[in-house]
Amino acid sequence: MNIAIIGTGYVGLVTGVCLADRGNHVICVDVDEQKVFAMKGGKIPIYEPGLEEIFKENIQDKRLFFTTSLEEAFKESHLIFLALPTPSGQDGSADLSHVLDVAQAIGKSLKEYKVIVNKSTVPVGTSEKVRDSISQQSRGAPFDVVSNPEFLREGFAVEDFQKPSRIIIGSGSECAVELMRKLYKPYTDRGIPLLVMKERSAELTKYAANAFLATKITFINEMANFCDLTGADIDSVRLGMGYDGRIGHRFLFPGIGYGGSCFPKDVKALISSGKELGYDFQILQTVEAVNKKQKVLLADKLLKYFKGSLKDKKIALWGLSFKANTDDIREASSLDIIEKLLLSGAKISAFDPVAMNNVKKHIGKRIHYTEDMYEALSGAHALLILTEWSEFSQPDFKRILDKIDQKVIFDGRNLLDPKEMKDLGFYYEGIGRKINR
Ligand SMILES: NC(=O)c1ccc[n+]([C@@H]2O[C@H](COP(=O)([O-])OP(=O)(O)OC[C@H]3O[C@@H](n4cnc5c(N)ncnc54)[C@H](O)[C@@H]3O)[C@@H](O)[C@H]2O)c1
Repeated sequence: MNIAIIGTGYVGLVTGVCLADRGNHVICVDVDEQKVFAMKGGKIPIYEPGLEEIFKENIQDKRLFFTTSLEEAFKESHLIFLALPTPSGQDGSADLSHVLDVAQAIGKSLKEYKVIVNKSTVPVGTSEKVRDSISQQSRGAPFDVVSNPEFLREGFAVEDFQKPSRIIIGSGSECAVELMRKLYKPYTDRGIPLLVMKERSAELTKYAANAFLATKITFINEMANFCDLTGADIDSVRLGMGYDGRIGHRFLFPGIGYGGSCFPKDVKALISSGKELGYDFQILQTVEAVNKKQKVLLADKLLKYFKGSLKDKKIALWGLSFKANTDDIREASSLDIIEKLLLSGAKISAFDPVAMNNVKKHIGKRIHYTEDMYEALSGAHALLILTEWSEFSQPDFKRILDKIDQKVIFDGRNLLDPKEMKDLGFYYEGIGRKINR
């Protein structure tokens, strides 16, 4: 099929690359000229495991193209995917301006039947708004709008796109649904379920899934905090809970709060949609409030350890991205922790395998960056582990001991073994598994 993808971020680029890899002719559009220029030259703008290889292959095989011109992409495409940002507005509601602006532009160019597929996460009722925006400009040209929410996880985006747990299609148009079934046939042939539902249900499914996952993380974080007070061990508790098939082991790992470009904004947007209709999402408001505290919990623990002041203290940070295997730092807890530590007088030395450039753009020279994880420890009074990168879970303790000034580790991802830390003489605190009591 001939496909246009509007917006080449984490969702759009992965969608474009993977659909090209299935043999489709894909043209990706972005307003960011530098990004498009780089991609035309074969340079990938984001880090996502496995993506670069298939990105390059499909450019070479002439199935994957890039442009800044919506009209150019639009001309030859039957399916137009919207993978545009829907950030939080001032009041927490999803800002639909990118989606609706593009819908208007599509309306202006529309001549023959096309299907506009929305992959962005959008509030219930957005498909109708998109349809209205297109209709206002399209002078009666035929089209359909489909809601096809995306569930990929950053860090596993290629794997998730190629082997999705399910494909959701929201549409009342038989013709559009047929086209979507054809597009996804290579996936459904492998047994992947494709659920057809009302547009509104498809839109809400995405928010409901993200809000549930944010709630599950927040729940286990609260249990971990309670473990810290009671002496119970969260690792035992989460394992004991997880064997109950109704609960499951996944998403039961305590840490420093959820971040990223999805959960925070989607929880906010759902609360806001509820308010518009006079519905009070109490559970989600609490999730948000608990998560806000959890994001700086490790800084609070560190401050308590150093009796309220970090003046003249050098703190090493391992990990800056909001989770492992991504360079995405949107709403990362590391950013909140850095601000709190700087405010308390600390000097910070940080290392991340792929996210440092993004943090430099955001925080600049207010902290020191090192190219090596052990270098960050040089003269440090404490190490904070903020992202669950695998290299942090089995470090070379001899190299740590050579570099670090005080044997103090606060582990925001529970990567290290508390007993081993104690045996090595470290003061060690994780989340919900404190042993130095
Ligand atoms: N990132 C994820 O893990 C994920 C997962 C599922 C769903 N989503 C949803 O998918 C949507 C996109 O998310 P993302 O993380 O890929 O965003 P992103 O910020 O990484 O990328 C968006 C891209 O759209 C481009 N863009 C903005 N306005 C444009 C326009 N008018 N025309 C063309 N391009 C334009 C930007 O330059 C950028 O490259 C959001 O609604 C998000 O909630 C994201």
